[in-house]
Amino acid sequence: MEIGFPETSYTFGSGFFLIFSVLFLILELVIFKIIFGILAGLGLILFAYFTYSYLVFSANNNELQNKLRDLVLNLLPWNGKGRVLDIGTGNEPLAISSAKKFQHAKVTGIDYWGKGWNYAQKMCEKNAISEGVGDRTHFQKASAMNLPFNDGEFDAAITNFVFHEVREAKDKRDVIQEALRVIPKGGAFSFQDLFLVKKFYGDLDELLKTIQGWGVENVNYIKPGDLVKIPLLVRTPFMLGKIAILYGKK
Ligand SMILES: C[S@@+](CC[C@H](N)C(=O)[O-])C[C@H]1O[C@@H](n2cnc3c(N)ncnc32)[C@H](O)[C@@H]1O
Repeated sequence: MEIGFPETSYTFGSGFFLIFSVLFLILELVIFKIIFGILAGLGLILFAYFTYSYLVFSANNNELQNKLRDLVLNLLPWNGKGRVLDIGTGNEPLAISSAKKFQHAKVTGIDYWGKGWNYAQKMCEKNAISEGVGDRTHFQKASAMNLPFNDGEFDAAITNFVFHEVREAKDKRDVIQEALRVIPKGGAFSFQDLFLVKKFYGDLDELLKTIQGWGVENVNYIKPGDLVKIPLLVRTPFMLGKIAILYGKK
């Protein structure tokens, strides 16, 4: 006796599975098209955004960077007599600007010039000479977390977008404290960084209180965006929306 499907159910079954497969094939093509389309679109938007941000804020497009850097110096409550330390000097734009602004000051720039940053001490020295401030500037390799200077050795301390980068410091407030250590009571400071990023510095008001608790007489903060026009697209929380300058006298 033969056992098998009746022909009608066989035809019905195979037809059903054919329709089933074609339907899913179509759905798959359409859905994958949509998903990949969305991903490609997102990729392009992010590419455009980061390219734009890079162009606005890159070292090659100095306009915005210069303005932010100038703010650090303009807010520094110092008469320019004595020595100033630029912490994380990079390719030393801030050190050179300060040597030009404070024409009798001696400027020291330190940086660890790590792998990620294409700056080097020799390049700094060469640039300083070509900018006409080679005789009043000095550069050395050192970590912002462990400055090789005595307490109060400098009359002023400055820095621009460095402290949050200091990997040795789990708590970035320690880097601020180390910077303040090398200026004396009454010494001037002006620090620009991502001070509004809570994971680095906690709440800003708390941070100011902590700094005062270290015996700092006068500490103020300003959001650079209030003084300098920062394009809306880079004023986002993960670009320049979280920067502030802390300045005052110890
Ligand atoms: C965004 S760049 C800023 C450079 C410069 N201040 C400017 O305004 O162009 C950050 C700099 O911090 C330096 N840096 C990072 N960690 C450091 C550390 N632990 N000690 C000293 N410098 C450090 C890097 O080498 C780099 O030059």
